[in-house]
Amino acid sequence: MKSIEGFALPKNQSLYDRARAVLPGGVNASARFNPALQGPLFLERGEGAYIYDVDGHRYIDYCVSHGASLLGHGNPAVVAAVREALERGLLLAYETDIQVQVAEQLLRLFPGVDMVRYACSGTETTWHALRVARAFTGKWGVVKFEGHYHGVNDTVGFSHWPSLEKAGPAEAPRPVPDSAGIPPASAELITILPFNDVDVLEECLRTRAHDLAAVIMEPINYDSGGIRPTPEFLHAVRELTRELGIVLVFDEVLSGFRVQLGPALGQEVVPDLTVLGKAVGGGMPISAFLGRREIMETCTPVGPALHSGTYNAPPVLVAAMGAFLQEASRPGFYEHLHRLGDRLYNGLREIMERRGIKAWVQGVGARFGLLFGLDREPRNYRDVAKQDLAQMARFHLACLRRGVYLHHVSPHHGFSSAHTLADIEETLDVMDQAAQELLRK
Ligand SMILES: Cc1ncc(COP(=O)(O)O)c(C=O)c1O
Repeated sequence: MKSIEGFALPKNQSLYDRARAVLPGGVNASARFNPALQGPLFLERGEGAYIYDVDGHRYIDYCVSHGASLLGHGNPAVVAAVREALERGLLLAYETDIQVQVAEQLLRLFPGVDMVRYACSGTETTWHALRVARAFTGKWGVVKFEGHYHGVNDTVGFSHWPSLEKAGPAEAPRPVPDSAGIPPASAELITILPFNDVDVLEECLRTRAHDLAAVIMEPINYDSGGIRPTPEFLHAVRELTRELGIVLVFDEVLSGFRVQLGPALGQEVVPDLTVLGKAVGGGMPISAFLGRREIMETCTPVGPALHSGTYNAPPVLVAAMGAFLQEASRPGFYEHLHRLGDRLYNGLREIMERRGIKAWVQGVGARFGLLFGLDREPRNYRDVAKQDLAQMARFHLACLRRGVYLHHVSPHHGFSSAHTLADIEETLDVMDQAAQELLRK
């Protein structure tokens, strides 16, 4: 791990040394390797807006469990709901009233959607949703967009963050596997398109409709820094998929509940299937996919698409989701998040401008991209791929040393409802000093 001048992490280093002997790379998820530190940060605990490392430092957290802790760490309402459900059984891998009640609660927030199935991770659920789309349409092909991420499963594990040498032309990107070990046959079933290009989308969908089961997209592409769809693109993708018998899947694992209660884009465009994860679990590992009855009943035991799992929907986790939904529905919840976001994003823009650092702040709801080297809103992955990752890592390290934790794997960060305006002011102060430090290098 990089030694950091004036800032020591001796216990972290020693744990990392031990961890590397027993866990490949010393981590259990490669995303926990923080490029700024060149290693993971080992934590003692998390509480509200803060994380505490094993060396006794406190940080204001802008990773928030890669987006899963939108309520902050250890939200009391979630903890209470989990405790209550625990009293009824630890795993209790059976159906109870809890799964039904939370399904009803969730579906009220997604008009035009009739049914839901739960699973654990986002990776699993995008994969289940695409299986359902394939079973429903009787077709195999899937379209995804360059720079969008849908988990590590082999169906969609392509072109999340491809190197430009391998990625091919911008208007006709090649599928680049995100990992070794993904069978080449999977690449034959996936088509990668540039985001926000209506002409390329239309040409592809019209010529390939006969073998396309699904188009999957992040409605807000946080995994490339928070790129919004243009209104034309959004309407085109909805109208074309509907016309051509292709299932439109919105992967809202990151975007759901991040901007407003429910779908990130509201009711303007309703997809055929929605995948939820991260925030909706209140900090617990639970995800869900939801859609119209005719599609959802493709799932076994009603239809032919096998959807099962020992760990699907344990009441303890579903109860956490119920508590999250209740917390997020409280009056003022999103007003608070937007107030924090406005102050943070405007403050950060002001700092970068005053310090003469070229960086684009792409704030969308409670998550944001801080894209060094960019001076305009990105439209797609190719724009974001131009960012200066080395400068970004230097900035993150300078913040970390001063008690603000940023963690980039994909270039997105975020805060929680447990953050306060005082935390944001402290953060801006730190970021100003970090920006000044960048200029000294
Ligand atoms: C949009 C999106 N989809 C799916 C996933 C995968 O979710 P998980 O990490 O729970 O497997 C992620 C994770 O970052 C994501 O951002």
